[in-house]
Amino acid sequence: MALLEEHRRFFAQLVVHSAGSTDSPLVAAFSQIAREDFLEAGPWWICAGAGYLRTPDADPRWLYQDVLVGLDPQNRINNGQPSMHALCLAAAAPRAADRVIHVGAGTGYYTAILAHLVGPKGSVLAFERDRTLAKKASASLKRWPNVELRAHSAVTQESDGRALPPADVIYVNAGVAELPTPWLDALKPGGRLVVPLTPDDGYGLLLQITRTGSGRFSARGLGRAGFTPCIGTRDTCASRSLAHALGVEDWRVIRSLVRGDKPDASAWCHGRGWWLSRSPPED
Ligand SMILES: C[S@@+](CC[C@H](N)C(=O)[O-])C[C@H]1O[C@@H](n2cnc3c(N)ncnc32)[C@H](O)[C@@H]1O
Repeated sequence: MALLEEHRRFFAQLVVHSAGSTDSPLVAAFSQIAREDFLEAGPWWICAGAGYLRTPDADPRWLYQDVLVGLDPQNRINNGQPSMHALCLAAAAPRAADRVIHVGAGTGYYTAILAHLVGPKGSVLAFERDRTLAKKASASLKRWPNVELRAHSAVTQESDGRALPPADVIYVNAGVAELPTPWLDALKPGGRLVVPLTPDDGYGLLLQITRTGSGRFSARGLGRAGFTPCIGTRDTCASRSLAHALGVEDWRVIRSLVRGDKPDASAWCHGRGWWLSRSPPED
């Protein structure tokens, strides 16, 4: 039977290649961060269809499959699917020395992967509003001095009032309906925001938004995915606009995000103060 490290190395290649990437720093991060260090002692609950299956024992090799693992199964809060995160991390492209904001850290597994990718000269500011999960994350992330964990919401009106620092990457792991504009403000020129936009049924669109040098925002869809809600961003109007757009038109037409309250004929869907447009960003 292969050693745990061999399982992890193969798992790393499998999930990164499944996401259509061959990025070696990303493979190295998935190879080196131990998923079991961010979970309760096994056996574990693995997401399967509408429910969960319990692993037969506490052998960590069960975790090195492309599966979601229950963090709080009663509330369907899971450690996310590795290949979906590989796709999103490849799009967010955290580089050495980058400043990252991570929204919805859970118990910190993907926070550690981000911290590994940005290295000791970079930093990760992670938010987790569930205090029980945040406490576990903070214990598991002690080995990463470049991580600061805040046990509260990343949405301004729910947070401690501190403005977000400028960021190269904002990586969001909970479903957003109304995109918080302070996140757009925090993006540095060239900065990338990867965020799941979800209607109220939770099954939405993974979106990559990049701030151009001239302060506009290019946008592109990465694929469909289901997410638990990002508390403080749920909004009936924005959710309806997104659900409608997803129902009537391919998301691959999205080219940019425009700020403003008067969506024009290029709008694919809209929220308050922003819309997704079929036109490329204007210079
Ligand atoms: C799908 S779970 C993902 C957890 C983690 N990223 C993982 O994959 O292991 C989403 C997390 O976002 C958190 N969350 C929801 N709304 C939030 C908000 N406004 N600010 C910070 N965290 C939030 C939830 O408590 C939950 O832990």
